Amino acid sequence: MKNKQNKIGYYGEYGGQHVPEKMKKRLDNLYDEYKKETRKEEFKEEYLQLMRDYVGRPSPLYYAKKLSIKYGAKIYLKREDLNHTGAHKINNTIGQALLAKRMEKKKVIAETGAGQHGVATATAAALLGMECEIFMGEVDAEKQKMNVFRMKLLGAKVNVVKEGQCTLKEAVDAALGYYIENPEVFYLLGSVVGPHPYPEMVREFQKIIGEEAKKQIIEQEGKFPDYLIACVGGGSNAIGLFYEFMDDKDVKKIGVEPAGKGLDTGKHAASLVMGKPGIIHGFYTYLLQDEEGNPASVYSIASGLDYPGVGPEHSYFKDIKDAEYVAVNDKEALDAFRITSEMEGIIPALESSHALAYAFKLAEKQSGKTIIVNLSGRGDKDVEFVASLN
Ligand SMILES: Cc1ncc(COP(=O)(O)O)c(C=O)c1O
Repeated sequence: MKNKQNKIGYYGEYGGQHVPEKMKKRLDNLYDEYKKETRKEEFKEEYLQLMRDYVGRPSPLYYAKKLSIKYGAKIYLKREDLNHTGAHKINNTIGQALLAKRMEKKKVIAETGAGQHGVATATAAALLGMECEIFMGEVDAEKQKMNVFRMKLLGAKVNVVKEGQCTLKEAVDAALGYYIENPEVFYLLGSVVGPHPYPEMVREFQKIIGEEAKKQIIEQEGKFPDYLIACVGGGSNAIGLFYEFMDDKDVKKIGVEPAGKGLDTGKHAASLVMGKPGIIHGFYTYLLQDEEGNPASVYSIASGLDYPGVGPEHSYFKDIKDAEYVAVNDKEALDAFRITSEMEGIIPALESSHALAYAFKLAEKQSGKTIIVNLSGRGDKDVEFVASLN
């Protein structure tokens, strides 16, 4: 069975709602509304129509011929970078914004790391006529200036968070704090993290990636791929690609985490590879922790991967070995960023470059096999930062 939720909101022992009683009621109400609305044919139709006409789905499955010749395996790229706003995030924000609208919410709030989820939320809010407020760490806001301008152009208010490390964890802290104080807003979470029902809801809106990829690879290759590879921050683009293939055990699923400056330096964000179970932001999962068991300081060159926790369903997949998790460092990701740009004319997001880097290493050892890499986003947002490194 594909759905591994043995108890609603839990994936094995992971997930749950580790939140105050008051918030539990709101989350349960959100789940009820989500179930009720998404069951309706008219909801499904509106979502799919927007996916097609507004986002530009299905995103192509592109055979990267030159990379395939260079590395030996057949490398296909699932082109989420071609979606409106430039990443997979829009699949989820349109879904949740449609739900918010049906719940008669006037305002949505969201956290963002690289700014892609913030832009996608601001876009969905503009489209559906809702107020929007985004929380973003100061370090990320500085690194991803263009996305801050984009959010403002789209009519959103951007709150720059100047706490702790000033990155994604603090942005989620601030957004959750605001949500607790302002029960009337809709919290539009950007990955398969947070308390139930977010991991389930976000997965359901992202699984369209794998559903399309399955049809496309059959059309092009006449068979399933040998490997699926995706980067893992919170884990939404990875689960989006993997989910439709969960019953196909011969298709190996590999999630790639950021090894930053190296797994032995303490400067990384490889939660599944190096963490141990703990609680963050209202759910139980593999977590990078300090000596006191609090979420540790983390680092990645890719702002969207810079999070000490990970989606609870991935924690479960790791334990039951339904997926494998590995890590790739900054340098390897940067090399893949440059190689893909030069050889295929596609500038990938730094997040997606982690998946590419691992795919290249694997392809060298697995000549003749077929690999689908989720190209979760485009690298336009990263060009200025990468240029500053030279
Ligand atoms: C392009 C891109 N890929 C991947 C991620 C990581 O998120 P997730 O693991 O939820 O897909 C982000 C997050 O900002 C992103 O912008």
